[in-house]
Amino acid sequence: MANSILVTGGAGYIGSHAVLALQNAGYEVVILDNLVYGHRDLVETVLKVELVQGDTGDRALLDQLFQSRNFAAVMHFAAYTFVGESVTQPSKYYRNNVVGTLTLLEAMVQAGIKNFVFSSTCAIYGEPEQIPIPEDHPQNPISPYGRSKLMVEQILSDFDRAYGLRSVRFRYFNAAGADPQGRLGEDHEPETHLIPLVLMTALGQRESIAVFGDDYATRDGTCVRDYIHVTDLAQAHVQGLEYLLKGGSTEVFNLGNGLGFSVQEVIAVARAVTGAPIPATLAERRPGDPPMLVGSSGKAQRLLGWQPEYADLETILAHAWQWHQTRHGLTKNDLTKSRH
Ligand SMILES: NC(=O)c1ccc[n+]([C@@H]2O[C@H](COP(=O)([O-])OP(=O)(O)OC[C@H]3O[C@@H](n4cnc5c(N)ncnc54)[C@H](O)[C@@H]3O)[C@@H](O)[C@H]2O)c1
Repeated sequence: MANSILVTGGAGYIGSHAVLALQNAGYEVVILDNLVYGHRDLVETVLKVELVQGDTGDRALLDQLFQSRNFAAVMHFAAYTFVGESVTQPSKYYRNNVVGTLTLLEAMVQAGIKNFVFSSTCAIYGEPEQIPIPEDHPQNPISPYGRSKLMVEQILSDFDRAYGLRSVRFRYFNAAGADPQGRLGEDHEPETHLIPLVLMTALGQRESIAVFGDDYATRDGTCVRDYIHVTDLAQAHVQGLEYLLKGGSTEVFNLGNGLGFSVQEVIAVARAVTGAPIPATLAERRPGDPPMLVGSSGKAQRLLGWQPEYADLETILAHAWQWHQTRHGLTKNDLTKSRH
């Protein structure tokens, strides 16, 4: 079918929200996810689309999938995403994020699928030289995770030149929040992102939230990050896809709010939204944490007509809180009981 889209990693956090947005826009979706981190239950109960459980590195599976269907495009979210783990296990990251993606792209070329939407990351910029960070900022990733994404971006430029495979690459800042209707949200294991950790503390599932450094050159001394609502991210993917389907050329876009929020501000708004005390403790700075990471997303707004709808921190936290209460809303007592 002309409007059939393969979504890799569609059982994960951002991919599942993109599947919802694609369904809303009238596309037919098939998910390819190896379920190493994805959630089968959410695909079956919320998304209700076909789930192919398999790996982007499995060429035979991809060939079979592409022969049996006529996909107009591939949206590629599947990757490993833990920056710290990528430092200690780089091989795992290069194999999955680079080799797995290369295998997928080769199968697409063979099947004649020419449109590709790729989840890149602001981690490819490394230490920012200017704020907000524009797309033409120098690219010096400081982790194997960031380098794996930059390598794929370079492969994509070469595949466009050689095989006419056009791509939209979205460099996301910090994805946050949850489906406004509470159907989907963030559920990573292990969890490393600030907002879910803060909300787990509000639920009493963690003693306190660690603030890594309060003497940065920012307005309150804590690190400032650009949190973009996952539903806004998902909507940008539909618009990026439509840009490609109309014949748009290969492009790269930052996706952020353009607004930075500090760690202290996130905790303060979370206290207001949840009504919970959320104890915070000061910890040492983490190596490689820049004081500020805020992106300029004007290009996506100009070229794709994208506009973030849920830019304020309170809405992002309220949606995440609604999700966390239903998905993870066990009390500490329940958790203790369930371990016995
Ligand atoms: N979460 C963020 O803030 C953020 C920021 C920048 C970029 N990104 C990128 O966005 C994408 C999605 O991130 P997320 O937070 O939703 O992660 P996630 O872990 O929730 O989702 C990734 C999904 O991909 C699947 N997967 C991984 N490797 C696979 C493979 N080889 N074959 C098939 N399935 C595979 C996992 O099972 C999981 O369901 C990733 O590419 C990530 O690098 C995320």
